[in-house]
Amino acid sequence: MKTRGLIVAMMAMGCGAALTAQEAVLAWEATKKFSYNIEKVGVTPMTASSWTVKVIFSVTNPAPTADFPDAFWDIKNALPLKGGSLRVLVGWDATELTNTGSRGNLNPVATGASSVGAALPVSINALAAAQACTVALCAELGATPVAGRYFVTTTVAPMGSVGNGIAAMEGRPICPLTGPVVPGCPVAAGVATAANIPVKSVVKEFSFTGGAVVGRRQIVDIANCKKCHDGGQHGNTVVPRLSLHGANRNEELKLCVICHNANQTDIPYRTSGAEV
Ligand code: HEC
Ligand code: HEC
Repeated sequence: MKTRGLIVAMMAMGCGAALTAQEAVLAWEATKKFSYNIEKVGVTPMTASSWTVKVIFSVTNPAPTADFPDAFWDIKNALPLKGGSLRVLVGWDATELTNTGSRGNLNPVATGASSVGAALPVSINALAAAQACTVALCAELGATPVAGRYFVTTTVAPMGSVGNGIAAMEGRPICPLTGPVVPGCPVAAGVATAANIPVKSVVKEFSFTGGAVVGRRQIVDIANCKKCHDGGQHGNTVVPRLSLHGANRNEELKLCVICHNANQTDIPYRTSGAEV
């Protein structure tokens, strides 16, 4: 709260210092212009234990208005999207998400080497890697039009048997600087204001093997969290809406558990070697 007060004070003083992702204003109101959609997840077996996963997605504008009538966002060119972050995650397995083998192995990394933690999902920078769908490239969509849709692919090799997977979209459009009106960005006194837009994250469960999809077991219901995390006053405190990791991961607990799983330990960083 103190930090927020300071930022407001800095902005009021016209201080030009750039806001960091964590500090930037969360424009919840602007989220009504953005919807992440995972339209299809296609799985192609490659070898006995590896699959190519293709995620077809779009970012739509559920509230077209005269100043921004488009139904789909151009993720490569529209300013708040191309200046922000958008990632597609792929994780597995069924009632628990363990993502075994997502980083190849669980060996400790060399001291000082940078690496990812254990059991994190495969994470794809969709802004860089996505290709626009064409009828030929996204035949999976069948009769659904391809305009406005994109896809990313990754080959994953889960360790051991695997049945179910989960794909997710996370990320935040960014309204970088206060200035000319930018579609999708909040406007105050005729100018766009700097903000992060905490678009609701989405997930889609799928089957690697073609069998019935068994979703990850549900433990908590976000409706209960929202009884407090609604941005409103509760007693003597304002409880913010659930937005973590610099506005990238918002109001979807099925997204959180793809990374925050029981296998996500410090094993890659144990420099004393593997434990038995
Ligand atoms: C009874 C009210 C209440 C409920 C219900 C509740 N929370 Fe909270 N939560 C709080 C308060 C108060 C804070 C501290 C807010 C702050 O720091 O400004 C908090 C903080 C958090 C934080 C830390 C946020 C951060 O930015 O570090 C997380 C994560 C969180 N809650 C998740 C959840 C989840 C997930 C649920 C539902 C399973 C939930 N909460 C349900 C009141 C609640
Ligand atoms: C792509 C992987 C990933 C996802 C998805 C993810 N987290 Fe995290 N989270 C991490 C990692 C790794 C850390 C520890 C390192 C760090 O703090 O960045 C962490 C740390 C945290 C922390 C402690 C530090 C902090 O920022 O306060 C909280 C609380 C947290 N996550 C909550 C959540 C919630 C709630 C969600 C879903 C809305 C979520 N995370 C989604 C990977 C993830």
